[in-house]
Amino acid sequence: MEKTVSEAIAYRRSTRKYKDEPIDTQKVKHCLVNASLAPTSSNLQLWEFYHITKQETLIKLTKACLDQNAAKTAQQMVVVVARKDLWRKRAKANIEFFKKSYDKADLTEEDLIRKKMVMDYYGKLIPTLYFDFLGILGFIKYLFLQIVGLFRPIYRQSRLSDMRIVAHKSAALAAENFMISMAAIGYDTCAMEGSDTLMVKRILGLPYGAEINMVIGCGIRAENGVYGARFRVPFDEVYFEK
Ligand SMILES: Cc1cc2nc3c(=O)[nH]c(=O)nc-3n(C[C@H](O)[C@H](O)[C@H](O)COP(=O)(O)O)c2cc1C
Repeated sequence: MEKTVSEAIAYRRSTRKYKDEPIDTQKVKHCLVNASLAPTSSNLQLWEFYHITKQETLIKLTKACLDQNAAKTAQQMVVVVARKDLWRKRAKANIEFFKKSYDKADLTEEDLIRKKMVMDYYGKLIPTLYFDFLGILGFIKYLFLQIVGLFRPIYRQSRLSDMRIVAHKSAALAAENFMISMAAIGYDTCAMEGSDTLMVKRILGLPYGAEINMVIGCGIRAENGVYGARFRVPFDEVYFEK
C-alpha cells in the first residue's frame, strides 16, 4: 500500500548506497508521470525527464556524476532537464489546448473574455517575456520594468538569468514530486547537482539550449545507504507568521 503524503515525505532520505536489487521500470515511469503533474510557471512545462535504465548509460552517467556514491550503486537514474528553449512550442501547445476547449457554439460572455485573456497571454505576453537575444533584450526589458516599478507593482523578472531561474524552479518542483512518489512506494532517490552537466548533456544527446536541473539516483536503500540522522535547522528559525 502506498504511504500517505506525510509518511512519504518523512520516509524520503537522500540515499547514497542502494541494494543490488532491480527496481520496476514501470513503477518509476509512473512516478515520472506524477512529476509531470507538478505545478509549472505559466503551465509552460519547460521540462523533460530522461529515465535511464540501460547499464552502459548508467556507467557513463556515474562518471559524469563525478563517481559519487549516490550514482555508483543506483539501479536507475532520472535526469530532470530544464528546457527554457522550448517556450514557443509549449506556448503553442497551450494555445491549441485552449482553442479546443473553447471550440463550441454556446460560449458565454465570461468564456469569451477568458478565451481572449489566455490567447493574449500565450500569444503576446509569453513571447514578450521569453523572447531574447543574447540576454540584451531581456536586460532592456528589465530596465524598463524597474522604471515602471517605481510607480506601480510590476513583474520584474525578465533577464535571461531570471527566465532560467523560472524554468529551473518548475523543473525542481517536478523533481520533488518524483522523489516523493518514489518514497511513497518504498523506492529511494538522491538528487545530485554535483555533476559535469556538459558531459551529462552529451551523454543524453541534448541540444545547446537544454540545461541539466538535476540527476536523480534511484534504487532501494541499502542498510547503510542513508548517512546518519536527518538534520534540519530549528523550524522556528525558518518559519515566520506575519
Ligand atoms: C538540488 C539538490 C542537489 C543535491 N546534490 C547532491 C549531490 O550532488 N550529492 C549528494 O550526495 N547529495 C546531494 N543532494 C542531497 C542533499 O545533500 C540532501 O538533500 C540534504 O543533505 C538533506 O538530506 P535528506 O535529503 O536526506 O533530507 C542534493 C539535494 C538537492 C535538493
